Amino acid sequence: MLISIFVPQQIHDRVSCLGLSALNNVFLKKNYMSAAAKVYKRVTTNALIEMKASGTKISMLTAYDYSMAKAVDAANIDVILVGDSASNVMSGHETTLPITVDQMIYHASAVVNAVKRALVVVDLPFGSYQSDPKEALRSSIRIMKEAGAHAVKIEGGAEIKDSMVRILKAGIPVMGHLGLTPQSIYKFGTYTVRAREEAEAEKLLEDAKLLEQLGCFALVLEKIPAALAKKVAKAVQIPVIGIGAGGDVDGQVLVLHDMLGLTTEFSPRFLRRYMHLYDQMTTAIKQYVKDVKSNDFPNKDEQY
Ligand code: KIV
Repeated sequence: MLISIFVPQQIHDRVSCLGLSALNNVFLKKNYMSAAAKVYKRVTTNALIEMKASGTKISMLTAYDYSMAKAVDAANIDVILVGDSASNVMSGHETTLPITVDQMIYHASAVVNAVKRALVVVDLPFGSYQSDPKEALRSSIRIMKEAGAHAVKIEGGAEIKDSMVRILKAGIPVMGHLGLTPQSIYKFGTYTVRAREEAEAEKLLEDAKLLEQLGCFALVLEKIPAALAKKVAKAVQIPVIGIGAGGDVDGQVLVLHDMLGLTTEFSPRFLRRYMHLYDQMTTAIKQYVKDVKSNDFPNKDEQY
């Protein structure tokens, strides 16, 4: 049921601002009670905040090219992430570190060309925002302008505050990313679960609150204990999207190639494979090779 209440202008203004207060939360919850049934023709950052307020889970997947993004968008995904995981799955690098801003723009513009409904978020790659806020802004502007992205994603908390503020001030929506942040893999030394220890868990919670306060519209939490992720999702009013962070968050993200079974060497506990595409593709390609060799392909109907 939609509860209709008179909303004074100041409250209205506060609701549209991303630094959400408890008052906004009450307002949003009342007004978006029926938003579960709401159909979004185009997903915006505000739509995601509405989804959290109404208890509607957010779906997010990666994509790096036109054809895949078209299929993902047609399936009504809410958010497409042009992740720097492209470095792994598209280029075969061991880490996400080598991918450049130019390469991210190449992938992102192909995705944007395909998408009609989803919000397209693009990772700022390693080295494009850490050194100084001006460079962070420059990289973000390039991604927004040259690729047509709708938002950027950045890894880290308090240590990248100045870059975050600079980007947000330019009117560019930012998604945060905490927990296992793959760009810091050489600091961590391992891809194991983060924030099991109290000190790291406390810092993560404080960082999440800081990112909300700065004006991030959402937050990814990667590979942390489910209980901690639940605590973070309760503590902030911006949507918390998990990967290996349990079910008590506001949405889920997976790497498309992993959930389709196109990658085979990566099998963390949190990954659910919906297909075994690598095997199916290899079977189909083997059949094609056989058909060519045996002169079965092309047949009379397959030629001019
Ligand atoms: O680059 C990526 O694919 C990501 C997701 C794992 C969240 O950052």
